[in-house]
Amino acid sequence: MKKTILVTGGAGFIGSHLVRLMLKKYSDYKIINLDKLTYAGNLENLTDVEIFPNYEFVKGDIVDAEFVNQLFADYNFDSVIHLAAESHVDRSIEGPLEFIMTNVVGTTNLLNAAKDSWKNNFTNKLFYHVSTDEVYGSLGKEGMFLETTPYDPRSPYSASKASSDHIVRAYHHTYGMPIVISNCSNNYGSHQFPEKLIPLFINNIKNNKALPVYGKGENIRDWLWVNDHARAIDVIFHDGKNGDTYNIGGHNEWTNIDLIKVMCKVMDEKLGRPVGESENLITYVTDRAGHDMRYAIDATKLKDELGWVPSLQFEEGIRNTIEWYLENEEWMNNITSGDYESYYEQQYAKR
Ligand code: NAD
Ligand code: TYD
Repeated sequence: MKKTILVTGGAGFIGSHLVRLMLKKYSDYKIINLDKLTYAGNLENLTDVEIFPNYEFVKGDIVDAEFVNQLFADYNFDSVIHLAAESHVDRSIEGPLEFIMTNVVGTTNLLNAAKDSWKNNFTNKLFYHVSTDEVYGSLGKEGMFLETTPYDPRSPYSASKASSDHIVRAYHHTYGMPIVISNCSNNYGSHQFPEKLIPLFINNIKNNKALPVYGKGENIRDWLWVNDHARAIDVIFHDGKNGDTYNIGGHNEWTNIDLIKVMCKVMDEKLGRPVGESENLITYVTDRAGHDMRYAIDATKLKDELGWVPSLQFEEGIRNTIEWYLENEEWMNNITSGDYESYYEQQYAKR
């Protein structure tokens, strides 16, 4: 094997797309997927690739330093692509500590284990940290996030991701560890846990449930197809400059309400409902505390330096995504049984 790569969080939404891409593209890389399988981790996301001979799954918690150190001793990884995280803003508002533990302590444990295992010989080694545009804070009507935009995180989630970014950079500057960081905008696509806007609303429309729009629905997000994020990670992993940061985004800004209306329209079509029927489910509810107004990524550096551009237009991407959720009812049913209902109750009953 040319490389042994630790991917953390590979059973989650983005991680599973990345693992699939790497396995299909690089038969000479051994991919070890480390995942705790929290509510968001789901091995069903990887059933089509789990038989690949160069793939191995390890269940474990990055917060457990002893376990992480032993894993590095056992496998002698060349590189780490770190995606494991608590990732949902609403959950971070309810319980920040879990976010600090996984996103900050867990990331530091991985860095320590990598540093010890690599014994200051960093030739051909890389720690790739996958982060979010939310570390930059909230934009007004104008402007976009650049790699040089000062950090200004405003939710416990984004603050924990910002902390982890800083710690990764500290290991680069202090110990000379080779690192890259990417900060990506909102992703959409198949296999996303239905707590996030797009899969949640697809599922609710299908089941004729209210669509809880926070505030006035005027907040803006910049949506990128998840496979394009995975492609960008692949490019940055191979060609990114040691110590650098790359912003990844789709140049695809939507207000929540406009996006929701597009989803309603496509769903009416797919479900054979009269035009406009699903829009009746829109229900304005109490806003999220500290709700960031607008995110927008300027991904010029990634385009100019590494030649990456998104491959899919949003109109096609959202249709494909809706089709996937409608065709994969069993996947959705399996994860919306059990604990999901109590999460939903707790999150939305009070709004
Ligand atoms: P996700 O919540 O779908 O998946 C996270 C995965 O991490 C799950 O499989 C979970 O089981 C695992 N995990 C959580 N805690 C763990 C722990 N303590 N030890 C080991 N594994 C653990 O998240 P996602 O949307 O796929 O996001 C992946 C990464 O990309 C995160 O770091 C997130 O901050 C970042 N990101 C996400 C988006 C987005 O739109 N979803 C955008 C930009 C960046
Ligand atoms: P989300 O998918 O949680 O991503 P993030 O907050 O990390 O950007 O939410 C996307 C947008 O949709 C955000 O502005 C909050 C809004 N939203 C709702 O209006 N209702 C909901 O039920 C959810 C989950 C999100």
